[in-house]
Amino acid sequence: MITFTLNGRTVETDAPATVRLLDLIREEFNLIGTKEGCGEGECGACSVFVNNLLQNSCLIPIGSIAGANIQTIEGILETEPFKLLDESYSAAGAVQCGYCIPGMIMASAALLSKNPHPSKAEIREGISGNLCRCTGYNMIVDAIHLAAK
Ligand code: FES
Repeated sequence: MITFTLNGRTVETDAPATVRLLDLIREEFNLIGTKEGCGEGECGACSVFVNNLLQNSCLIPIGSIAGANIQTIEGILETEPFKLLDESYSAAGAVQCGYCIPGMIMASAALLSKNPHPSKAEIREGISGNLCRCTGYNMIVDAIHLAAK
């Protein structure tokens, strides 16, 4: 039995310790906002916060998260940073197919929590772990810049 905090709730699972956090949150807890892209730690689609740090959930075996505080995109929906980013992504036309967006939003929120007024170069660096297969990076950078004003 592994116990941890998921979006503010204490939860338990009997899943084997080798199960990926990505699969557990999607399949056992039905939190499907977190996406699988590469499955190899390269694309950031599976980004979550583990103890407030941005992490790729496809690389994390759940045996390592006992007692940890996990937040998914669903867990930040009611926060001010999310509402601001939601508006700015819409205003900047930053959502194309949408697949990368939950991970991009997590990376954006992580960046703005550390650096509330990043330059465009700092924004590009901040989302460098997240790939957009539509290659809409300029609008995503504009969206984060707008949210940071
Ligand atoms: Fe985890 Fe791509 S699915 S980094």
